[in-house]
Amino acid sequence: MPRKALIAANWKMYKTPAEAKAFVEAFLPLVAGHTRDEIALFPSPVLLPTVVAAAAGSNVAVGAQNIHFAEEGAYTGETSVGQLKAVGGTHTLIGHSERRQYFAETDEIVNKKLHTALAHSLIPVVCVGEVLAEREAGQTAEVLKRQIARALAGITAKQAAPIVIAYEPVWAIGTGKTATPEIAVEAHKIIRAEVAKLLGSTVAASLRILYGGSVKPDNATALIGQEEIDGALVGGASLKPDSFTAIVNY
Ligand code: PGA
Repeated sequence: MPRKALIAANWKMYKTPAEAKAFVEAFLPLVAGHTRDEIALFPSPVLLPTVVAAAAGSNVAVGAQNIHFAEEGAYTGETSVGQLKAVGGTHTLIGHSERRQYFAETDEIVNKKLHTALAHSLIPVVCVGEVLAEREAGQTAEVLKRQIARALAGITAKQAAPIVIAYEPVWAIGTGKTATPEIAVEAHKIIRAEVAKLLGSTVAASLRILYGGSVKPDNATALIGQEEIDGALVGGASLKPDSFTAIVNY
């Protein structure tokens, strides 16, 4: 069965509630009736209730950029899965490279968060990707395999169906340097093969692997059009309804 692509907007730490609401109100008519792909918006936690309310009943899902692995507790500044679900979030990013880089998120933390997300029936988008020095040192495959194996530790094939992986080469994020389709496809194949090794070929065959890193309207078709690339995680170009719509319509 062909994999349904997911086109996801990572808004990072941008937009006020008023701006988020205006985006959704402008965006929904532009993608009304779009059923070829799934669409999801990932705003800051403070924007979640506004975005969920504005997107209610539409073909656009809403998720968090991060969750904590604990059910609840003394974790100042964090958001629990229960809180996310209570406001209507259905998806979450896990292990985005900015979380790894600036908030010391390790593969072990990513793994704990993945377990928590699956236990609560969220759709997790687990981000992996090499930094420039690792690519230049020829370590990309090794890094991706390690990140995947550690993220999936203790996850069974039975649990794995909702998991989405986002391949985001760190050197391509926010830099305007997109991976070529060839580079992305090669990385996706490494990831899919590793998932096949860990969870079996059935899980691997239906696993959605998104590409992220400077996806723009003018390169979206070349990337997402590849059989190996099952959607995109879009930062900068997802902030405006027109450019994100152009990517959704790749
Ligand atoms: P970018 O961000 O599209 O601005 O490169 C992608 C991401 O960080 O998910």
